[in-house]
Amino acid sequence: MPDFTIDALQPTDKGWVLEWIAEEWGAPQVVAHDRVYQPHRLPGFAARRGGEPVGLITFSMEGKDCELVTLNSRLPNRGVATALIDALEALARQAGCKRVWLITTNDNLRALAFYQKRGYRISRVDRGAVERARRIKPDIPQVGQEGIPLRDELELEKDLAG
Ligand SMILES: CC(C)(COP(=O)(O)OP(=O)(O)OC[C@H]1O[C@@H](n2cnc3c(N)ncnc32)[C@H](O)[C@@H]1OP(=O)(O)O)[C@@H](O)C(=O)NCCC(=O)NCCS
Repeated sequence: MPDFTIDALQPTDKGWVLEWIAEEWGAPQVVAHDRVYQPHRLPGFAARRGGEPVGLITFSMEGKDCELVTLNSRLPNRGVATALIDALEALARQAGCKRVWLITTNDNLRALAFYQKRGYRISRVDRGAVERARRIKPDIPQVGQEGIPLRDELELEKDLAG
């Protein structure tokens, strides 16, 4: 049995969501596919243990598409991120979405493995997208995880009908 719960974000969660995003992504806003998001203004789900947040997913629904905007877990390898993505997919299905899609970066090997093992497939590679994002958010580092030059965006998607 997991020792955490999953629930939809409420307006009262905005404060800690803003702090988390700034801590995890270097600023309160995130830039993906040339678009600026303010995740604390987006809908999402929280994972909580003993009432304290241990995971966060935010998303944006447009028509039949559901974009996973951010996913973070502070309780590694306990199923937190899996439970959050399951909650998002269930909601997206209920809402009539045909797919969930997301952007990650070329250095994020852990995320690439995580998503692919959960049915997501690479649908697009945007070479140089992070270099463009850096013009909007100059503090995006030049070198990402594992010393990999941080340059490109990868789009992954999961067909909810499949
Ligand atoms: C990628 C990330 C979201 C994964 O979060 P997580 O909570 O550790 O993920 P989970 O626990 O659900 O799954 C991780 C592994 O733990 C294992 N696991 C899950 N539940 C478990 C349990 N109860 N006991 C032991 N292991 C477990 C899973 O098998 C999984 O391995 P797999 O991917 O090989 O199947 C997290 O590392 C993170 O926040 N990264 C930084 C931000 C980021 O890159 N976000 C994604 C890009 S948008």
